[in-house]
Amino acid sequence: MDKILVKGGNSLSGSVSISSAKNAYLPILAGAVLCSGEVVLHKFPKYDDVINMIEILENLGGKSAIEDGSLILNMKSLSSYEIPRELASLTRSSIFSLGSILGRFRFARVAYPGGCEIGARPIDLHIKGLEALNVKVVDRRGYLTCDGRNMHAGNVHLDFPSVGATENVMMAAVLTKGRTKIFNAAKEPEIVDLQNFLNKAGAKIRGAGTTTITIDGVEKLGSVEYTPVPDRIIAGTYLIATIMCGGDVLLENARPEHLQALISKFDNNSCKIVTKSDRIRVISNGRPKSINKIETMPYPGFPTDLQPQIMALQTISNGTSVIIENLFETRFKHVTELVKMGAQILTEGRSAVIKGVEKLYGAEVTATDLRGGAGLVLAGLVADGYTTISNIGQIKRGYESIESDLKCLGADIKKVEFL
Ligand code: UD1
Repeated sequence: MDKILVKGGNSLSGSVSISSAKNAYLPILAGAVLCSGEVVLHKFPKYDDVINMIEILENLGGKSAIEDGSLILNMKSLSSYEIPRELASLTRSSIFSLGSILGRFRFARVAYPGGCEIGARPIDLHIKGLEALNVKVVDRRGYLTCDGRNMHAGNVHLDFPSVGATENVMMAAVLTKGRTKIFNAAKEPEIVDLQNFLNKAGAKIRGAGTTTITIDGVEKLGSVEYTPVPDRIIAGTYLIATIMCGGDVLLENARPEHLQALISKFDNNSCKIVTKSDRIRVISNGRPKSINKIETMPYPGFPTDLQPQIMALQTISNGTSVIIENLFETRFKHVTELVKMGAQILTEGRSAVIKGVEKLYGAEVTATDLRGGAGLVLAGLVADGYTTISNIGQIKRGYESIESDLKCLGADIKKVEFL
C-alpha cells in the first residue's frame, strides 16, 4: 500500500543519471534465450518489469546473478518452451519471447501477456509475422502454441510498424536458415539496440532503425557482454519535470538524438535546452507557453510513452493545447486524475484539449498505468499543497525510484507506507 507524497512548489536543480532503457532491456532479455553462452548485461536497472522478465527466464530454466550492477545470465540449461499464465500476466514483454523461444526450441507455448491497460493491444501482427516464417500458430484458451518445426526464412510485411512484432520476428529469424526481411519495421532506438546486442552475440542483422530489416540466419549465438541504451522516456520525464518546476538540471547518460521529437517542441519556449552527445541540460524559468498540437506517432514521432507527462505540462502552460493519441485508444486514463487537481481538460475519442491553468491543487490521485502515474507525479511537483499518488506499483514497472531521483533534484517528495 505504498504511496508517493509530493508537496508542490520547489524548483529543481542538480544532476541525475538516467538508467538503462526498460524497452531495450526487456527484448534483449528475450534475445538472451537464443544465446548458448554467457550473457552479461551492464547497468542493470531494477524496474519491476525487468525483474519479472528475469523470473520468466528462470522459469524456462535459465540462471541469473547480479554482480557489481551487471546482470549475468546463463541460458545453456534451458529446459522449457512454455510461459505459464501467472508469469505472462506480469509483463507484456512475455510475448517478445515467442520469437526467441521458437528460435531455440522450434516450439513455444506462451500465455497471453499482461502490461499496461491502455488499449486493446492486439497481437495479430506478431502472429502474422511468425506465420510468414511458416510457423503454425494455434490460439486457444488464452495460450498461443507455436510449432516452428518447418520454419523457414521469408518476407514479413507489417501492416503497422509495431515495436513488439518487429522484435519478435527479428528474434525468430536469427537462427533460421536463409534471409528474412521485415518491411515497414518499427524504427525505435531500442530496436537498433536489440540488433546491436544480437549481432555482438553472433547474429547477422542489418537495417534496424530503418523501415527494412534484413536478418541472415546463423547456426548459433554465443557469449556476449553488452550495455543497453539509456531510457529516453525517463530522460524525457525529468526534462519535462524541470520545465514545469523551473530550475537548472543536467540529465547525464541521456541521448538527445533519441528525444528530438520532444526537444524540438521547446524551440520557442521559455526554457533553454543544451545538448551534448550523452547529456542534456535544461534551464527553465517562467511559465511555459502551451504547445499548440502534440500528436503521438511511431518513432521518430512524438512517443506515446511521454504523452501523460507532456499533458501534465500543458495543464499549467499558458494557452490551449491539443493532444492526439494515435497509438493506444484508451491512453487518457490519467485525465480524470489530473482534473481532480484542477486541470481543465476535455477529451473526445483520441483527442484531448487542455486549457492551461495558473495553478493545480494537491489531491489524492491514482496511478492508472505506468506513464500515466509519472504524469501525476509531475503534476504533484507544481500543485499547491500535498498530492498523494496511490497504486505506485505501476510506476515502479519502469522507474527504479522516481521519488529518489526527484528528491535529489530538490523536490519535496517521498514514498510513504499507508496501512
Ligand atoms: C512498445 C513499448 C511501449 C510503447 C509502444 C509504442 C516495449 C516493451 N513497450 O509496446 O512502451 O508504448 O511500443 O511505442 O517496448 N498493434 C496491433 N497488432 C499487433 C501489435 C500492435 O494492432 O500485433 C498496435 C497496437 O494496438 C498499438 C500499435 O500497434 O496501437 C503500437 O503497438 P506496438 O508498437 O506493438 O507496442 P508494443 O510493442 O506493445
